[in-house]
Amino acid sequence: MAHIDTILAQGGNGSDDQKTGAVVAPIYFSTAFRHPGLGESTGFDYARLQTPTWQILEKQLAEIEYGDNAFAVSSGMAAIDLLFSTFLKKGDNFITSDDLYGGSFRYFDDLVEKNGIDYSLWDGTDFSYLKQKISPKTRLIWLETPSNPTMKIIDIKKVADFVHKIDSKILVAVDNTFLSPILQNPIKLGADLVVHSATKYLGGHNDILAGVVVSSRSELSKSLQENLITRGQVLDPFSCWLLLRSLKTLSLRV
Ligand SMILES: Cc1ncc(COP(=O)(O)O)c(C=O)c1O
Repeated sequence: MAHIDTILAQGGNGSDDQKTGAVVAPIYFSTAFRHPGLGESTGFDYARLQTPTWQILEKQLAEIEYGDNAFAVSSGMAAIDLLFSTFLKKGDNFITSDDLYGGSFRYFDDLVEKNGIDYSLWDGTDFSYLKQKISPKTRLIWLETPSNPTMKIIDIKKVADFVHKIDSKILVAVDNTFLSPILQNPIKLGADLVVHSATKYLGGHNDILAGVVVSSRSELSKSLQENLITRGQVLDPFSCWLLLRSLKTLSLRV
């Protein structure tokens, strides 16, 4: 596999299949795609399901986070919502590290109030407490590391190994916004899912509001894909293109 700097610099290049020779990925604004014939599809039908620029971006994001697939959505909060609404249902609980971006806390409290999902806080270091908190209803462990704003650090590998040993079905999800894939790859450390507010380092120019969920394996990707089509918090083609542009300099900027 190419070095991450090479993957970033080459992201989307040569992806235009129209034989124009365009180096940079094209932007397709069309929301509908004509079928060549009855029951035939080009692979693109309707913009909430898939668009070419979105697909190019998602391939790039999956590659730099060593995932199976990535989902680019309309904000970091939309990414968090996509993840939680895909994998948690009424009656489930999850455990979260105790220092988080404030919006994540607001979202979690909303899950408790409106969706019958419960959560507990964990300091990221006391593993006997973590073991005590895990129950048959525990579906997910959420880590934000380093945390916003106090830069609290949690050992992702230690948590993933510990939790998966107790129950391999419990998902370990990491908000990797603050280190970016240049400095930390949670999936390589054993996490099942990664989230980014791409509004921060991935975007890097203060002109894109976007979020990303990266999944480590195909069955998780399938569930995310189905839920994304239903909920529709997709990233628009122009922001997809801007984010592709931004990623080319991610390594240099970080
Ligand atoms: C760590 C972290 N996660 C998620 C978010 C939410 O992202 P967005 O503002 O793109 O919705 C933020 C925003 O500041 C953040 O800092």
